[in-house]
Amino acid sequence: MGTRTRGLIALAKKHLPRNYAPSDKFVLRGGEGCTLFDVEGKEYLDMLACYSAANEGHCNPRIADAIFKHLKTRGLTCNANCFWEEQKILFARDLANFCGKFIDPSLNVVLPMNSGAEAVETAMKIARKWAYVVKRVPLNEAEIIFCENNFHGRTIAIVSASTVPQYSELFGPLVPGIKLVPFADLNALKEAINPNTAAFIVEPVQGEGGIIIPPDGYLAEAKNICDDNDVLLVADEVQSGFGRTGKMFGCNYDGVTPDLLILGKALGGGLVISAVVGSKEVMGILEPGDHGSTFGGNPLSCAVARESLRIMRDERLDKKAEYLGGYFEEKLKEIAVESLYIKEIRVRGLWIAIEVWHSGPDAHEFCQRLHRAGILCKETRDYTIRMSPPLVITRHELDFAVEKIREVFCS
Ligand SMILES: Cc1ncc(COP(=O)(O)O)c(C=O)c1O
Repeated sequence: MGTRTRGLIALAKKHLPRNYAPSDKFVLRGGEGCTLFDVEGKEYLDMLACYSAANEGHCNPRIADAIFKHLKTRGLTCNANCFWEEQKILFARDLANFCGKFIDPSLNVVLPMNSGAEAVETAMKIARKWAYVVKRVPLNEAEIIFCENNFHGRTIAIVSASTVPQYSELFGPLVPGIKLVPFADLNALKEAINPNTAAFIVEPVQGEGGIIIPPDGYLAEAKNICDDNDVLLVADEVQSGFGRTGKMFGCNYDGVTPDLLILGKALGGGLVISAVVGSKEVMGILEPGDHGSTFGGNPLSCAVARESLRIMRDERLDKKAEYLGGYFEEKLKEIAVESLYIKEIRVRGLWIAIEVWHSGPDAHEFCQRLHRAGILCKETRDYTIRMSPPLVITRHELDFAVEKIREVFCS
């Protein structure tokens, strides 16, 4: 390990809390496309894309141009939301058009926020207010249904719905009005709904939960159940959105139009922005003062997100993920046959889970070995290695990943 790495890691240990546990072997400095490099100059293939936040690749030239152009021609990086600002308005129009093209034109009101978790919280607030104002649920009685094994972020309200003990156990008291059902269990959903149910919040594919893909038709039937019971279906597409699954949105697999769509990560092309999108009818329950955020919809993020949407549309990153995901899946399944360690491969688009047997090294250990081989990815849960490369990855780069994965799993 070089002295620069050692020095920075010593500083990190002194000044950063231990809420993450990065490898002590390298410190990243920069990146371009699907390549990241550390402070010693070693290169890695990024097979994580910042959990899908870097779908367009690092330092995408169009994103870089949009940043510089905005700074040079507009200058504004923040704006008090009490004043109208051009980029926020144009961003709302562009995202509404994008959702109209790829899901349904009824999704045409956009509330920009910052993080994915903030957008989930926003959707929870909208659902609760909608339940009181429109559905006439008695005050403070509204319930929201989530799935077991979910991941929607880390705030107190959200971890109140988590089934991972570490996420909530020592952070109580938790937020009431939350019910849990097993993922992909439609009967359980039906049984959990009562007259006070405001919403069902669900990931089209459970990402952090291990790339868990529901059976075909699950979301469509969940939507029917919600409609029959006057319950909002809220799709959390923070990770599944924008091409990751091989379709532009995870909801596209079932042709579902959610009542609320939660977006984040890739939306900003690497900058911080998230959004809740819904119909005028549902979003219209918000009144001045109900909700807000200083940086939510800031001019710089909005200008860059507009370019990010154009890239995703022009380059059809969804189609690329579909095609390259199929190719990668084939290669990984060949490796799985050769390897003693791999139990299962799950793939949806360019979202991959390599599930390893519990009798061998765990997923964390395999990720360390992959890091040493120049492949950056991250375990999710104890025995699942998750890969989600930038969607601009080339077949040549995927072949490099395949070669290294084979070395790690077959030697
Ligand atoms: C489905 C889903 N929702 C919400 C979040 C939270 O996003 P953020 O980390 O930006 O708060 C994540 C993060 O991984 C996610 O995967």
